[in-house]
Amino acid sequence: MNYDELVKTAIEMTNMSYAPYSHFHVGAALLDKNGKVWTGCNIENAAYGPSNCAERTAVFKAVSEGAREFEAIAIVGGPENADGKAVIEDFCPPCGVCRQVLSEFCKRDFKIILANGKGEQKVFTLAELLPESFSL
Ligand code: THU
Repeated sequence: MNYDELVKTAIEMTNMSYAPYSHFHVGAALLDKNGKVWTGCNIENAAYGPSNCAERTAVFKAVSEGAREFEAIAIVGGPENADGKAVIEDFCPPCGVCRQVLSEFCKRDFKIILANGKGEQKVFTLAELLPESFSL
């Protein structure tokens, strides 16, 4: 599984997004150490607070099935068009809460791959996106 394939899976996952409030669809594809890909989408809620980001959906699916070590995650997202499909133009970096959740399970050199609508990619390490992170 290379980064392009991981991004493709994340793009496909935007179709699973449940985002009736923000109309912003996010998909994620998380690669574990055994080469298995765990997918996620954002899942919103009428009470707003219980909404879950795509990245955390993927992490929670993986951890709840026993995966604990990860190599990379691809994340894409964008506002929906009239057909309710994501229009991916800009990069969609992970929110602060998702960065902290990733840091619970991922090493500092874990890769975060962002892709925009031009087919461009940006790759960051978790250390770059969450420096001086909190842990116990
Ligand atoms: N969202 C994600 O899924 N991941 C992020 O890292 C940023 C935000 C979702 C949450 C919400 O459903 C929508 O995007 C708009 O904020």
